[in-house]
Amino acid sequence: MTPAARAQAAIQILDRILAGEPAEAGLLRWSRASRYAGSGDRAAVRDLVFDSLRRRNSRAALGGAMTGRGLILGMLREERRDPGLLFSGEGHAPARLSESELLAGRTPSADEALDLPDWLLPLWRGSLSDQAGPIAAAMRDRAPVWLRANSLRASPAQAIAALAVDGIVARPHATLATALRVEEGARRLVAASAYRDGLVELQDLSPQLACAALPQAGRVLDYCAGGGGKALALAARGSDVTAHDADPQRMSDLPARAARAGARIRLAQTRELRGGFDLVLTDVPCSGSGTWRRTPDAKWRLQPADLQRILEVQAQILQHASVLVAPGGWLTYMTCSLLDAENGGQIRGFLASDGFALVDERRFTPLDASDGFYLAVMRRC
Ligand SMILES: C[S@@+](CC[C@H](N)C(=O)[O-])C[C@H]1O[C@@H](n2cnc3c(N)ncnc32)[C@H](O)[C@@H]1O
Repeated sequence: MTPAARAQAAIQILDRILAGEPAEAGLLRWSRASRYAGSGDRAAVRDLVFDSLRRRNSRAALGGAMTGRGLILGMLREERRDPGLLFSGEGHAPARLSESELLAGRTPSADEALDLPDWLLPLWRGSLSDQAGPIAAAMRDRAPVWLRANSLRASPAQAIAALAVDGIVARPHATLATALRVEEGARRLVAASAYRDGLVELQDLSPQLACAALPQAGRVLDYCAGGGGKALALAARGSDVTAHDADPQRMSDLPARAARAGARIRLAQTRELRGGFDLVLTDVPCSGSGTWRRTPDAKWRLQPADLQRILEVQAQILQHASVLVAPGGWLTYMTCSLLDAENGGQIRGFLASDGFALVDERRFTPLDASDGFYLAVMRRC
């Protein structure tokens, strides 16, 4: 496919997304209908779609319309490229720009330049104060790929060497040597033997830093285990980990992942939980506002009512999980959100009535780590 044909494919997919289709479904539909597209084309179209969603409001302003054509035109104007090169009307290229399209478009307002939903702006600013602008700006770019070297299988140096065999270049983080940033070859990762043999796990830097900051504990319960990313990280630190999730289906891949990683993780149903854990981790469902670089579609889908529901679930989880902590043990709370209502706000509410004391609280952002992430560590009094 030519660059212009890729742009036309992105325009059509974006129009469907703007009409309400989830981004992944839109990309899959196009992929299935486009047998002629090679893997390079698919990756390029995906990048165009996701880049456009990350910068949706600012590019729509520049391009003069909240449409697929407007977003791609906005991209070209932002990058100071000649729109006529892609909007040529030749072959599978987008149709030539009309007179009105050529005249439309303006500099984004200060709010549009943040590329966040309007209703969320007060919450974002209230949560991040003078960092609100710089963090929003960082969220308009693609996220880096981070790996966790699995110490049950390999040292960081061994993991880096194994990745290099498959042409993947990774470098350790300055203070957390097991966190490896992928510099080259990220698209080859899932086929690489270092990944398939469990030497590395895909995990962003921020949750890795958060897990490394947890107190060392013997009996650990991962109360919201999901796919098990945190459970595996804690097992690699030598803890005896039990994984639980309100939706046990979410843990269905965990036994295979644990086997690959050389970790022993027990799965438990809610009715089997007895309490007495040294550390209970609640990696709660959240808005995901800290990970919107990776899931820009979710940024525009989130509605105030969704956030309200999420806040209620988070508060309930804290209450339910807290009774499972042994006397003197730790209750820990994590989100991949940057909103104070989901972070410090929840913890302040919880601490107002229960027998726990806050011993550590950290926020990670793209300015100092990678994804937006929050950690609170509380101790049972
Ligand atoms: C952020 S995800 C967990 C991600 C996971 N810890 C990881 O590192 O891959 C949140 C999980 O909480 C689970 N969950 C939702 N409500 C819950 C509840 N009331 N009790 C326990 N788990 C719940 C969801 O099913 C989901 O798997």
